[in-house]
Amino acid sequence: MSQPDFSPSADRNKQPILDVLRQVLPDRGTALEIASGTGQHVQWFAQQLPLWTWQPTEVHRGALYNIEVRVAQAKLSNVLDPMQLDVRSEPWFTDAEQAPAFDLIFCANMLHIAPWEAGLALLRGSARHLAPGGKLVTYGPYFENDAPPAPSNVAFDQSLREHDASWGIRLREDVEQAAAHAGLRLQARHAMPANNLLLVWGRAG
Ligand SMILES: C[S@@+](CC[C@H](N)C(=O)[O-])C[C@H]1O[C@@H](n2cnc3c(N)ncnc32)[C@H](O)[C@@H]1O
Repeated sequence: MSQPDFSPSADRNKQPILDVLRQVLPDRGTALEIASGTGQHVQWFAQQLPLWTWQPTEVHRGALYNIEVRVAQAKLSNVLDPMQLDVRSEPWFTDAEQAPAFDLIFCANMLHIAPWEAGLALLRGSARHLAPGGKLVTYGPYFENDAPPAPSNVAFDQSLREHDASWGIRLREDVEQAAAHAGLRLQARHAMPANNLLLVWGRAG
């Protein structure tokens, strides 16, 4: 069995993210992770929050292998088999009658490394699949109207747009407006290391 891919940044940010999750989440629940990537986040959170059940997902079939191997190596019984999911393929779950509801939908570092439409789909899908009182948590870099951008984020944004013109760091206020359209509102904003934000969203009203 070859070793799964490793992301140094996911390794650095998993504990700061967990620290905030502990503050904002109840002791137990069900979580859907969007864009699980290497699976390092879901592995860490599942180990540290053992009363939660985790459903990892990834758009790239090849990446599902990373998650499967990590979960198997860590012998985690509270992580379900990873599911292939492109947020833009709506509905996310084919049997609309059985549409599951999650207490947490977690998505790190996708909004800026996917077209804006993927972010809109994330918000729509989350509004559909959050349980009453459930939270969508997004993590990553954002620009904000009332804060000067960190030079590192400006450079990162430029490199993203050069790689793919549809990518780029999103303006937090634009995401808020799109979230309102989807029926979600920003509940909390947490400043995180390395000029990232962790945003907590819930149903509006
Ligand atoms: C930078 S990686 C982040 C991975 C992981 N969440 C982390 O923070 O380490 C961006 C992720 O977004 C995912 N992604 C891009 N477009 C997507 C889409 N349309 N639906 C679901 N995931 C998508 C990619 O497959 C990739 O895993």
